[in-house]
Amino acid sequence: MVDGPRRRALVLGILGSPRERSNTGVLLERVLAGAAAAGAETELIRLRDLEYSSCRHCGGCDKTGECVVQDDMQQVHRKLRAARHLVLASPIQFSGVSGETKAMIDRAQCCWVGRYRLKRAASEVEGERRGLFVGTCGGRDARVFEWAAHTVKAFMNSAGFRYWGELFEANTDGSPPVGERRDRLAEAENVGGRLVGQ
Ligand SMILES: Cc1cc2nc3c(=O)[nH]c(=O)nc-3n(C[C@H](O)[C@H](O)[C@H](O)COP(=O)(O)O)c2cc1C
Repeated sequence: MVDGPRRRALVLGILGSPRERSNTGVLLERVLAGAAAAGAETELIRLRDLEYSSCRHCGGCDKTGECVVQDDMQQVHRKLRAARHLVLASPIQFSGVSGETKAMIDRAQCCWVGRYRLKRAASEVEGERRGLFVGTCGGRDARVFEWAAHTVKAFMNSAGFRYWGELFEANTDGSPPVGERRDRLAEAENVGGRLVGQ
C-alpha cells in the first residue's frame, strides 16, 4: 500500500469489535461521517477482517522501531503514521478493550520503542494529532470505560496522538440498538466534526 500526497487531513477509524453488526461500529461510522462532513478524509479499519498475531516480545523492533512480524498489522502501522487524527472504537470485554483491540495495541510496542527509546517522531504529519476513544458496554457500570481508557491512553501516546476525547455508551445489552438512538447518533456526528475542527 502506498500513501500518496494528501490535501485533506486523514481521520483513521479502527474498530475492535468481533461482530459484523457492532454497536461500537455504528457509533464509529457516525463519528467518521461527522469528520467527513467537516472536510476530512476518513478511513475505517475493521480489525476482525485482518490477520495478525499479538506481540511476541521478540525484541525485533528494539533497534529500528519497526515491527518485524510480517502480517496485516504492517498496514495498520502505516496508516497510524499517515493519520492526522485517530478514532479507536472498542466494545468492553471483561472490563477492558476487546481481544482484537488489545492485540493491536500490543503490536504498537514498536511505536513505543520509536518514541520513547529511539526518541523519534511518531509521524511526519504536522499539527496536533488527536485521539478519540469510542466505547460501548453491555452493563450499567460505566467505570469499565475508565479502566479501559488507561490502556487506550498509553497506546495513543505511543502512536503520537493526544488523548483528546471520549464517546461512551453503557447498557447496550438493556437498551434498543444504538443504531435506533437518534440522539446518540447525532452526538457521535457532532463529536466527529469537533475532532477535526479547532
Ligand atoms: C466476551 C465479552 C465480554 C464482555 N464483558 C463486558 C464487561 O465486562 N462489561 C460490560 O458492561 N459488558 C461486557 N460485554 C458486553 C459488550 O461490551 C456489549 O455488548 C457491547 O456493546 C458490544 O459491542 P459490539 O456490538 O460493538 O461488539 C462483554 C461482551 C463479551 C462478548
